[in-house]
Amino acid sequence: MTRRIEHSCVTTEIDDEGIAWVTFNRPEKRNAMSPQLHYDMEAVMMEIETDESVRVTVLTGAGDSWSAGMDLREYFRETDNDPTAQFRSFTANKHWSWEILSMSRKPTVAMVNGYCFGGAFIPLCACDIAITAEDAVFGLSEINWGILPGGIVSKVIQDFLAQRDAIFYAMTGRTFDGTKAVEMKLANIAVPRERLEEETRALARELMEKNPVVLGYTKQAVKAVRTMDVEMAYEYLRAKSLALRFADTEDTRGRGMEEFLDNKTYRPGFEPVGKKS
Ligand code: COA
Repeated sequence: MTRRIEHSCVTTEIDDEGIAWVTFNRPEKRNAMSPQLHYDMEAVMMEIETDESVRVTVLTGAGDSWSAGMDLREYFRETDNDPTAQFRSFTANKHWSWEILSMSRKPTVAMVNGYCFGGAFIPLCACDIAITAEDAVFGLSEINWGILPGGIVSKVIQDFLAQRDAIFYAMTGRTFDGTKAVEMKLANIAVPRERLEEETRALARELMEKNPVVLGYTKQAVKAVRTMDVEMAYEYLRAKSLALRFADTEDTRGRGMEEFLDNKTYRPGFEPVGKKS
């Protein structure tokens, strides 16, 4: 049975397959991220992270927008002279949209259903996988507002885009669509808008076939080595691999070897090892 969690700016539905559909829910403001949305997302992400029934997290937006970025009125102008309020909303934003989301133990999917501007690039890049409507509109519009691609927008576009594209789009503020986002490797898959949910569900099901502990360790390992040198990466991955053997109580590794080497019942190159019967 689907479980619904309501916050004032975010709606979450956890369906019986284990997919948490998290929806930014301020369609009248194109899902711009207000301080309250950040507080709601912080609560939601903590809840999802600690709910064992959740197998995949999908982030999307209500209406025709994923998110129009930071709320220029509530996140910026209204807190310009209030350092305490700034600290609260900045910290909540950093906590959910990067710290929790980028290293979540669950697979995370950005399902970009429309406008994606400015600060929305942070959760977009924090998600493991991005699937977008072909006609979604992306833009680094900060240049038009007289502000920098802040938070860590400048950092994530440097990490995720080719340098030429990062600088070009940050300097011009030109928009691009979902198809172009895939061409630039900002998103993985672009589909017609009417197929977005169905394709996202198919992707979530594919991820749910894997062992969830192995999946969590894999994404964390791949992300963590990004800033390590080769020697450190060798050491870290050796230690992380050992840790996984203890964390994976289903012993996927052992069963995989047994089924491949001894029983010869499956080819791991093509499908996940079957569940322990
Ligand atoms: N911050 C605050 N409010 C925002 C917002 C933002 N980032 N984006 C949209 N809104 C508000 C508008 O002010 C408007 O509020 P109102 O009804 O009280 O006047 C409402 O959302 C609808 O916006 P509107 O511009 O009428 O919708 P649209 O469908 O014609 O256009 C956008 C949608 C996203 C293209 C347009 O709203 C826009 O350019 N927003 C700014 C996006 C941006 O540059 N974000 C980066 C900020 S750093």
